[in-house]
Amino acid sequence: MRESIRFLRKGEVVEVSDVAPTATVLDYLRLTCGATGTKEGCAEGDCGACTVAIGRLIDGKLVYQPVNSCIQLLGQLDGAELVTVEDLAQDDRLHPVQQAMADLHGSQCGFCTPGFIMTLFCLYHAEGQSKSRATVTEWLAGNLCRCTGYRPIVEAALQACFDEADDAFTWRGRDTAARLAQLDDGRDVLIGDGESFFASPASLEGLGALYGQHPDATLVAGATDVGLWITKHLKSLPKVIWLGRIAGLDRVEETASGVLVGATATFAACEAAMTRLSPDLGALWKRIGSRQVRASGTVGGNIANGSPIGDSPPALIALGATLELQSHHGDRTLPLEDFFIDYGRQDRGAGEFVTGLFVPRPAADQVFRCYKISKRFDQDISAVMGAFLFTLEGARITAARIAFGGMAGTPKRAIGAEAALVGATVEDPATWTEALKAIQSDYTPLSDMRASAEYRAETARALLAKALMEAGGTEAAQLRLRGAEKPAGSSTLEAAE
Ligand SMILES: Cc1cc2nc3c(=O)[nH]c(=O)nc-3n(C[C@H](O)[C@H](O)[C@H](O)COP(=O)(O)OP(=O)(O)OC[C@H]3O[C@@H](n4cnc5c(N)ncnc54)[C@H](O)[C@@H]3O)c2cc1C
Ligand code: FES
Ligand code: FES
Repeated sequence: MRESIRFLRKGEVVEVSDVAPTATVLDYLRLTCGATGTKEGCAEGDCGACTVAIGRLIDGKLVYQPVNSCIQLLGQLDGAELVTVEDLAQDDRLHPVQQAMADLHGSQCGFCTPGFIMTLFCLYHAEGQSKSRATVTEWLAGNLCRCTGYRPIVEAALQACFDEADDAFTWRGRDTAARLAQLDDGRDVLIGDGESFFASPASLEGLGALYGQHPDATLVAGATDVGLWITKHLKSLPKVIWLGRIAGLDRVEETASGVLVGATATFAACEAAMTRLSPDLGALWKRIGSRQVRASGTVGGNIANGSPIGDSPPALIALGATLELQSHHGDRTLPLEDFFIDYGRQDRGAGEFVTGLFVPRPAADQVFRCYKISKRFDQDISAVMGAFLFTLEGARITAARIAFGGMAGTPKRAIGAEAALVGATVEDPATWTEALKAIQSDYTPLSDMRASAEYRAETARALLAKALMEAGGTEAAQLRLRGAEKPAGSSTLEAAE
């Protein structure tokens, strides 16, 4: 058992043994280290002012990802390299990204600038990025600037980020990778006592035993939800178990029949596999939060939080995903839809945790579509999220699975509409009438700040019609990314805007 966390910063190993369960990376930097270059704006993962870069070994390679330090727990740094805006310049020579921002006037008041710099630092180090405004704006969707305007920032990024990386981090990359590998010692971490602790088990057995002993502990995967309980709801979470070091729990395995996603696989880690499973799913993934949120947030957390407006559950339910759960009593699997019992209630016993899910690949005779409807395209919560899987014999529908988020207290299937579609044909809208009627009685949506009940009901009906039209061969219109690059096959999702 280790009673400290260890991470790299400025080429040195930092060991911290005083880690409060809810301490954030941002507070550690600003309050403990006096490193006030990293800013606090919203404290909820939205504005990106607090962005830092986290370096980790992914498949043996050193990868830098942007992370919102305001909602990242200090304990989550264990085994990683932390890079902040204060670590980039070499003596009095600015990093190429900083120099470009200065040369092209990418900063006015400067409050957002450290966050932009750190996201661009990660883009500078990212491989295989095509040089375009679309790439840059997608990377920067989680960074807000309220005074400069984005044009000079995008231009600085285009100037600085697409040549081969050549900075101090590349020069010492091999050494950094070796040191990160050394930090991964496979030992359980527990800092605190039986009443209050930050723990990070290294194995499923360790987690099962610890959580069995402390079923009142809060499990944390990426902390993109839990972080807000701390910074916004001011919750006291005396016992925190971080799942991020459990060997094998972050697996993403593609097989002919589908994709197995471990509970701690981040959205970023499984994006490519999900895109191969369905281009619509890939396009949806890109719209979950921002680069920062997807680098930390997990699919497991998106399900386990039980939210009625999480984006992935409706799509995964329509695809027929199954969920795996485990406790020190054993493990079990269940259809994902059965996990969501009621608003705020999930089928998860004391001491039980999610280990992963299996997402079946649509068969050759199946058509899958999903649409996220939100006020903004990027970094926004859905008002309605609809997903559809039609099984076809020629043009005739032999089976349908439809699930919606934002329409009930849980992500929920449209049982009436599904039944009414059997026998309908995707080429004849006259055969859809019963299903379009049935979907109105499948749900009783609520009005809230995101949408009225009437809007939601009408949108659900329209999305069903749209999915059927597209299954029948109607080409979806390109509404959003006109003139810009877009991911192959993502047309339908964009057209829903
Ligand atoms: C700025 C911002 C934008 C966002 N945008 C979106 C969006 O577009 N779409 C969307 O759907 N969500 C969005 N979210 C919400 C959040 O990112 C997702 O819900 C994410 O998937 C949560 O995953 P996590 O790993 O961070 O979960 P955590 O915050 O670590 O945990 C979430 C919940 O799940 C529990 N939990 C986690 N792992 C397990 C496990 N293995 N077993 C049992 N319980 C577990 C935790 O105890 C907690 O209750 C956004 C959040 C932020 C801050
Ligand atoms: S302070 Fe706004 S994202 Fe962290
Ligand atoms: S420079 Fe002022 S907010 Fe961006």
